[in-house]
Amino acid sequence: ADVDLQAVHDTLVSIAFEAGRMILAANPTSISTKMNAVDIVTETDQAVERMVAARLQSAYPSFAFVGEETYQAGVTTITAQPTFVVDPIDGTTNFVHAFPNACVSLGLAVDRQPAVGVVYNPFQDLLFGGVRAGGSYMQRNASLAAGQGQGPRVRLGQGLRPLGDLRAALVAVEWGSQRDGENFEVKARTFRRLAAARENGDGGMVGGLRSLGSAALNLCACAAGQLDLYWEGGCYAWDVAAGWCILSEAGGRMVSGNPGGWETALDSRVYMAVRGASSGQEELVEEFWKMIGD
Ligand code: IPD
Repeated sequence: ADVDLQAVHDTLVSIAFEAGRMILAANPTSISTKMNAVDIVTETDQAVERMVAARLQSAYPSFAFVGEETYQAGVTTITAQPTFVVDPIDGTTNFVHAFPNACVSLGLAVDRQPAVGVVYNPFQDLLFGGVRAGGSYMQRNASLAAGQGQGPRVRLGQGLRPLGDLRAALVAVEWGSQRDGENFEVKARTFRRLAAARENGDGGMVGGLRSLGSAALNLCACAAGQLDLYWEGGCYAWDVAAGWCILSEAGGRMVSGNPGGWETALDSRVYMAVRGASSGQEELVEEFWKMIGD
């Protein structure tokens, strides 16, 4: 059956505001670790995921649900069925430090493709939304009642300059939570190559490297043209599903973060995002891949 994507979007926005109120009201004292000491979860992550799952279950009982805090490695998969892909708090480390760059990330995948995305940063009351074939937007003062200073929804992608000279590019990279083995080596090598001056041999110097601590907000910043590129190896479908829809609707692209291949899937774990309005800039993406190397 056809899914009314706009209706899903509107439902996700109201759930995002409810999640935002929970996040702002929380005092993140109860912190547990998962894979290692930097892979953390708080009671708020779990409580927000329970609330989101319950709301979605009652609004869309036939849709599947994949959430960061209930995911089981090797068991949870994203099928072709409409599937909500949810990160209750993306940027948990920022959240526990009250560093105001964290969000709730609510995506819907249909046929394993991102179809709706809602990303809401309650600390800045900043909302991003996108609907496949319907465009994407950014809204400031988003949760304020209409007429009380709620900002307009600004369409993303229009009038944006496409990806240009990589030496001037502002690039986001993230260390993520996997800090050992080959995964760590790949990240360290990639960051080093992007930071180094070209004269020094390998790699190439981009304008600036940032690690802001939220995959979803990095994707939204690319969509809005505030960042030029974002590369990460190691994050998951729930980190990227919503932001991916917002980015593509802004004319940006999600491509494989592994040099040499364009295609990437929701659960491919290595992603590269290219700023909005840049769908024609393939040579520059190839040049970026060359900087990264194998
Ligand atoms: C993390 C953030 C971080 C990224 C990690 C993610 P979480 O999500 O998005 O920026 O580097 O890969 O796991 O754990 O805060 O939801």
